[in-house]
Amino acid sequence: MSVYICPVCKAPLLRYDNVMRCQNRHSYDISAKGYVNLLGPGKASRGDDSEMVAARRRFLSAGHYSPLREKLCETLQSAEFETLLDAGCGEGYYTKAVCDSFPKASVYGLDISKKAAEKASSLCKTAHVCVASAYDMPYADGSFDCVLNVFSPLTAEEYRRVLKENGALVMAVPEPDHLIELKRAVYDSVFIKEMKDSDPEGFEKTGEYGIKYEMTLDNAGLKDLFTMTPYYHKTSYHDKSRLDGYDVMTVTASFRIFTYSVKRRNNV
Ligand SMILES: C[S@@+](CC[C@H](N)C(=O)[O-])C[C@H]1O[C@@H](n2cnc3c(N)ncnc32)[C@H](O)[C@@H]1O
Ligand SMILES: [Zn+2]
Repeated sequence: MSVYICPVCKAPLLRYDNVMRCQNRHSYDISAKGYVNLLGPGKASRGDDSEMVAARRRFLSAGHYSPLREKLCETLQSAEFETLLDAGCGEGYYTKAVCDSFPKASVYGLDISKKAAEKASSLCKTAHVCVASAYDMPYADGSFDCVLNVFSPLTAEEYRRVLKENGALVMAVPEPDHLIELKRAVYDSVFIKEMKDSDPEGFEKTGEYGIKYEMTLDNAGLKDLFTMTPYYHKTSYHDKSRLDGYDVMTVTASFRIFTYSVKRRNNV
């Protein structure tokens, strides 16, 4: 039974060759790369553009975030899931790691960027990847044992809806000092914001881990790293060009992984 639902009428979607169709004859082509676009009519693909997706692919393939990938897979061991959704999966680096580490699991990936979904479905042939918004996910209620969120928009209400009653959320976020040297090189003043200490609504925390290490990056690595951040399109050409002056830089990677379970109804 498919977990997908139609973005228009919310009826179950069934697969017929290279098309997914609901009982009301709304149909969605499965692309040659393997992903399906379930944004629905009139909704455009947004999120990371092709330049950001390509930079992220180069940076992650170089292994700079492999300590985070390994810690996430280790953390997921205790989640004991059969079905997992990587929400905001990007180009599929962590989706692929989950598929490889948990070959018996059904792994899904969702991203609002078509370019990202295209890359993710090519990288990870066994994952079910779609283009959709995390604010309106094309999955039936209670579809997943676990949702993984790595640096992506957190839509707690939708996550709760698509998770099973005892479902788990595993989430990675940057710490305030993450990439601090890179930010100081680009901007005149850098404010270190404290991390919010509140659980997503309807979830209770079950664990928390920090990961911190230094990365030595050459100029190409530095620029890829900056290009894949949300700051890239908000930064002037002048500020970006400050990175030209660095052949090499040691940059702090600092992450926090949180694990949550869906709050039981009688605890709410
Ligand atoms: C910082 S990237 C992280 C990607 C991936 N998890 C990783 O760490 O490599 C954030 C991702 O969220 C996606 N995104 C942004 N807004 C979204 C939304 N409303 N629904 C789904 N995905 C979204 C972007 O396209 C991008 O791929
Ligand atoms: Zn429909």
